Amino acid sequence: RVTADTDHYLVTQRVARVELIPGTTTEIWGYDGVFPGPTFRGRRGRRMVVTVRNELPVPTSTHLHGGVTPAGSDGFPTDLILPAGYSPAPPGHHGASGRHHDTTRDYTYPMTQRAATLWYHDHRMDFTGPQVWRGLAGLFLITDEVEAALPLPRGDRDLPLMICDRSFAADGSLKYPQRDMTHPGADGLFHAGIFGDVILVNGAPWPRAEVPAVRHRLRLVNGSNARRYRLSLSAGTITQIGSDAGLLSAPLPREDVLLAPGERSDVIADFTGLPAGTEVTMTNTLGEGPTADVMRFVITGPAADDSRIPATLATPETLDRTRAVAERRFDFRFGGGRWTINNQPYDPAATICSVREGTVELWRFTSDFHHPVHVHMAHFQVLSRGVNGPEPGDAGWKDTVDVRPYETVQVLVDFTGHRGRYMLHCHNLEHEDMAMMANFDIV
Ligand code: C2O
Ligand code: CU
Ligand code: CU
Repeated sequence: RVTADTDHYLVTQRVARVELIPGTTTEIWGYDGVFPGPTFRGRRGRRMVVTVRNELPVPTSTHLHGGVTPAGSDGFPTDLILPAGYSPAPPGHHGASGRHHDTTRDYTYPMTQRAATLWYHDHRMDFTGPQVWRGLAGLFLITDEVEAALPLPRGDRDLPLMICDRSFAADGSLKYPQRDMTHPGADGLFHAGIFGDVILVNGAPWPRAEVPAVRHRLRLVNGSNARRYRLSLSAGTITQIGSDAGLLSAPLPREDVLLAPGERSDVIADFTGLPAGTEVTMTNTLGEGPTADVMRFVITGPAADDSRIPATLATPETLDRTRAVAERRFDFRFGGGRWTINNQPYDPAATICSVREGTVELWRFTSDFHHPVHVHMAHFQVLSRGVNGPEPGDAGWKDTVDVRPYETVQVLVDFTGHRGRYMLHCHNLEHEDMAMMANFDIV
């Protein structure tokens, strides 16, 4: 539904059986009963309202990852949509958040942000890992005038690719290992998060795309619970044009692209000149066998290509360290049987700090392990990693940064947008569910 200044969408979360692995069916929990969920396309300057109806047997919360979203629509982990059919709260009852809990919910996205590849996913407290694993995730693309004016590949040459790993039982059902809540983190496998043994691209294992020998835009999204990828192509070239939260200022040639959970990379794959019949494989060089095989492009033959990679993509502001009005440290660490930030496990009622809307702060992340650190609402730029400057993969506006074991990453965070309670957390979803989250207030 479209009104003067707003695009309205309705999406229903429901149980469905779909064919992910050819020849078998899998029960999923999907937005509109599909996995990934429907791809939303927004335009800067047009508000979007998405009504989510919950027909699943469990409560949910939907978060737009990378969204510059008012706090009431951010998908706070305890701000739940109750399952339809669940016994309703007595009249006048309000939840802990003070909001009326219901089985449908309007999420308002003002769309004041720059063009970027975002994604949305479930964010229910303690259950984000299993609920995303069952299928509650999808893509959300935002365009703006700057991007629309660029001669980048478009239409069927613009391919959003949501990459995630899953495991299946012989009957086709998804396998999420049972969690031992009495000894969180005691299981070595679970300590590192949950890993699947097959890689899915837009819900399909080892898919094959027939493409002409021209430039394609690949919007790579790591929607995995815990797996990191280093993606490379067996032929052709890769040039990065965008990061998590927008276009880069200039194109960046890359050998491969490293993506931690939650991160995105917008790249141009150039297949120009490859002979018809060439099979170009996209490989995860951090995996082995089926966890190395991501997808294949089969070249159909030459075709006209009026796309280009312009030398200037956008003119994003570069944050300067002198703008930081405060410095804070957040230490991501396993302690006392929990994953913690500054030694504290998540408490939905507590806040770790208050920041002023419209200011820039220097945040320093330290860690004992691989922790993809994600900040809601506020985008950031990487100032340093270890003792060096940022690496190529750190370029541009980010909302998630992979902090490696015993590494310090410094970022400049821009808190321009909205006031309210937001969160930062590890985007390894099992770490997140085991309390590696914290709230911060923007005042
Ligand atoms: Cu993509 Cu708070 O999450
Ligand atoms: Cu987020
Ligand atoms: Cu972590």
